[in-house]
Amino acid sequence: MRNTLDGSVVIVTGAARGMGEAHVRGLVRSGARVMATDILDTEGAALAAVLGTGVIYRHHDVRRSDDWQRIVDDTLSVFGRVDHLVNNAGVLSAGGITETTEAEFRRVMDINLIGCWLGMRHTIAALTATGGGSIVNISSTAGMQGYAGLGAYVSSKWALRGLTKTAALELGRHGIRVNSIHPGPISTPMLADVDTSTIVVGQPIARIGEPQEVTDLLLYVLADATYSTGHEFVIDGGATLGRVDPVVTTHR
Ligand SMILES: NC(=O)c1ccc[n+]([C@@H]2O[C@H](COP(=O)([O-])OP(=O)(O)OC[C@H]3O[C@@H](n4cnc5c(N)ncnc54)[C@H](O)[C@@H]3O)[C@@H](O)[C@H]2O)c1
Repeated sequence: MRNTLDGSVVIVTGAARGMGEAHVRGLVRSGARVMATDILDTEGAALAAVLGTGVIYRHHDVRRSDDWQRIVDDTLSVFGRVDHLVNNAGVLSAGGITETTEAEFRRVMDINLIGCWLGMRHTIAALTATGGGSIVNISSTAGMQGYAGLGAYVSSKWALRGLTKTAALELGRHGIRVNSIHPGPISTPMLADVDTSTIVVGQPIARIGEPQEVTDLLLYVLADATYSTGHEFVIDGGATLGRVDPVVTTHR
């Protein structure tokens, strides 16, 4: 039987578009109330306007500690509790090791890693007061393997995977589960400038994923995966398994 998210309160970052938007819509369908945050205020406010009083949108740069404190305070004052945190905001950055500037590498780590660390730091007290709940950190298949030309992104997503495990160890005693989700290529604005035609070649499920497929997994991890913590939930069409075509062929 599915556990319920009905009436629970969830903070979702990077919620204005892409997978974050799908997560907000899925959570609302499940009866949750959502604090949706992003830096894209026009899109974020428009989303909240169509979804009704169960969704509040707030401007929130995940790199800023003061923004995080304001979001947690606002969530408590509007909804009275925090049950779950979804650290979804992130940026992609392409470039080889010698091409990527130090400033760009630091920017990616700041958003994709430190933003999630700040999110956990600022919500632990509220989650503990509610009696547990869970945190989901959105990593990537780039947190499961390397990708040439994506060093900053890969570093941030592997580090987030490691941080997830440490947080799970530290927070279990408060009843808080912490897991990571690792999507493969998903159809969102993040991939708008990426040539996706070659990405899925050799994948057992040879297509780009849809945001809703990740949302379905997120809802499961938040509500139903009650004996899982510190683990990776991979949703990638089998991309990280290897190639479907034989690597070794014989001459016979
Ligand atoms: N699309 C993919 O193929 C894919 C694959 C694996 C993992 N992911 C991860 O999934 C998450 C969602 O990505 P998406 O594909 O929906 O991309 P997206 O670009 O559509 O959405 C990312 C959101 O994060 C927000 N954001 C960026 N910087 C921010 C900041 N400093 N503070 C607050 N919000 C900020 C953006 O405004 C945007 O709304 C990201 O963490 C991404 O790394 C995406």
